[in-house]
Formats: sequence, structure tokens, C-alpha cells
Amino acid sequence: MSKPFLDVLGGAILPTAPIWMMRQAGRYLPEYRVTRQKAGDFLNLCYNPELATEVSLQPIRRYGFDAAILFADILLIAQALGCELWFEEGKGPRLSVVQNARAINRLYASEDVHQCLSPIYKTLGNLSNELPAHVALIGFAGAPWTVASYMVAGQGTHDQAPARRMIEENPDLFECLIARLTDATITYLCAQIDAGAQVIKIFDSWAGALNGKNFERFVTAPTRLIIKALKAHDCNIPIIVFPRGAGRDYHFFAHNVGADALALDQNIDPFWAAQMIDKNVVLQGNLSPKSLILGGSRLQNDIARIKEAFTGRAHIFNLGHGVLPQTNPGHVRDMITYVRQE
Ligand code: CP3
Repeated sequence: MSKPFLDVLGGAILPTAPIWMMRQAGRYLPEYRVTRQKAGDFLNLCYNPELATEVSLQPIRRYGFDAAILFADILLIAQALGCELWFEEGKGPRLSVVQNARAINRLYASEDVHQCLSPIYKTLGNLSNELPAHVALIGFAGAPWTVASYMVAGQGTHDQAPARRMIEENPDLFECLIARLTDATITYLCAQIDAGAQVIKIFDSWAGALNGKNFERFVTAPTRLIIKALKAHDCNIPIIVFPRGAGRDYHFFAHNVGADALALDQNIDPFWAAQMIDKNVVLQGNLSPKSLILGGSRLQNDIARIKEAFTGRAHIFNLGHGVLPQTNPGHVRDMITYVRQE
């Protein structure tokens, strides 16, 4: 059976776009909150293949999305490399900081990440067996820059100032950290492909915090290396990149890194993207998560505009960023109805 999501990644233009949402398995769903409670906390849920499979399947069952995404987090790789990682309720991730050569040298070797991450591969194996035949399975990782920015700061920040300071003070040392993450990410993603991931998405959520030479060196170059290695591992694996906030750098990014598809954040005008981005790049996006919270005519109009902009292009419907916990699950159903209305 064909999978519309994979067909579009191969360049097909379908009458209605396949749909999934970033963070589709998450706190806006009551059934997610029940399973998360059963797991105890978020990290236990990520490392429990049975429960992680369950939460990945929940939005597929409820809404019939065209793709399921592995349930995990981009920061697990830091933990697999030996950093401490925990999530503070209501505040977000916390990590032991990596800011000097000693801390970088202490990180484990790439091959050792499997020890921590093997439950993740098990989740992918379960999902490959359990997903309906028309639904594609997405594996993912964070891009080295975004993961490094959390490791240097020990937490999320608004402007990635600690990592940017490290780049200013010691760019070569920062590059060592990026190189370690690039290697580990390749090892991790190849194992995800072997375990059943049919598409890989690389999240560079803080790409917009760098520009110019640093953007090329720490955002573009490592992602290009990862994609080259994944294509060497499996020449048919489609790759989606998400350089959030990259503004005018969006333009050539997919081409520069060798990606098949480009995920657009909600600040990119869909008409600009449809016109400026090379036709052989598949576009994904880019409804604002706020529009999904508001619902009603705002939601309907925003979706109509996206559909109009991407008419005649290979397009995957998605949000410009993750679905927010306060979203009404009914609005998600409305979104799907509007997108699938011809
Ligand atoms: O459904 C999916 O999209 C798959 C699972 C997924 C999660 N995180 C689950 C999650 C994916 C792909 C991610 C990616 C991720 N994680 C990113 C990149 C995308 C983005 O959002 O920009 C980043 C930066 C992270 C790091 C992270 N994880 C933060 C900053 C937070 C706290 C913010 C929050 O929403 O609470 C998380 C926690 C997290 N990751 C949750 C989920 C479902 C919420 C955890 C909970 O249940 O409390």
C-alpha cells in the first residue's frame, strides 16, 4: 500500500496534502496525560518502549494523521553521551553543563550511545509493526548546534547567549563539541533507520540565533555532514530539515545541506517560500500553533492561505512549531477537515 506522506517526499503533488503535527503526541491530548502519569515522568516515558509506542499511536488513532513520529526528545543524545539530563516541571530541560575541554573529553564515544538509546530503537521497531499500512514513520534528532546550545547553557535560553559566548571566546573548542555531536547523531540516526524509521527529521530549533560565517560553520556544515552520512547508509531515506528562525537563510538551506524537504516555521510567508524555494524541495508547514489555539475563522483563513500558496507544489501540511498544551483537541479535528476539503 502506498503512503501519501512518502509519495509527497518523493515529489508527488497530491490533491490534498498529507498531514501530521510537530509534538502531535503531547499534553494537549487527555490520553497522553494518562499514559505519562503511568510512566511517572517524561524521561521514563521516552525510555519505556511499550508506553512510548502507545503515545505515538494515540494521535494516529484519534485523527488518522499520515505520519507518526517517534516519541523521544532531542536531548536524549546528550544523556547518551554522559551528561545528566532532567526535566523540571513547568520549566523545561536541565543538563549538566559542558563548557570546557575537560567536559568535552569526558563525553562517551559515539558507539557507546546505543547503550542508553536502545529502548528508542525498540520503540521504532514496535511502531513499524503496529502502524496502519498508509502511515509513515518518522525518526529524528536535534541538529548539533541546537543540542550543543542546551549542553553549554545547561537549560533552554531565549537567545542561546551562553553558546554564542563560547563561539566568540573559543570557536575551535566549540567546534570540537559540534564534531562530537555530529558523529554521535550519525550513529544514532543510522540505528533509527535500521530499526524502522522511514523518514528522518533534523530539528535545528535555534538555527535563527546564528548568522553569516557562524551559521555556515555550526548550522549548515554539520547538518550537511549528517545528511551525507545518512544517504551513504541508506540512499533512499528522505530527510526533512527544520532550521527554525533562519529567515533569509531558509532560502538555500535545503539545497546547501542536501535535504529532500524543508520544514517552514510560521514566520515564513508561504507565498514567499513557494516562489523563492527551489521547486524540487518539498515544503512542510507552516500553520501557527496560535491559530490552532484560536480555531474558528482565523484557523480556516490561515489554512486556506497555506493551501493556496502551495497549490501545484509537493507539500506536507504541518504546524510552524510544536502544538501547544492548551490547544483544544477539537480544533485539531477542524484543521484536518479544512486541509482535506478539496
Ligand atoms: O510528537 C513529537 O513531535 C515527537 C516527540 C518530540 C518531543 N520533543 C517530545 C516532548 C520531539 C520531536 C521533540 C523535539 C524537541 N525537544 C525539540 C525540537 C523541536 C522544538 O520544539 O523546537 C526541542 C528544542 C526539545 C527540547 C525540549 N523537550 C523542551 C525545550 C521541552 C520543554 C518544553 C515543553 O513543551 O514542556 C521538552 C519536553 C517535551 N518533549 C515534551 C514532549 C511531549 C513535554 C513533556 C511533558 O510531557 O511534560
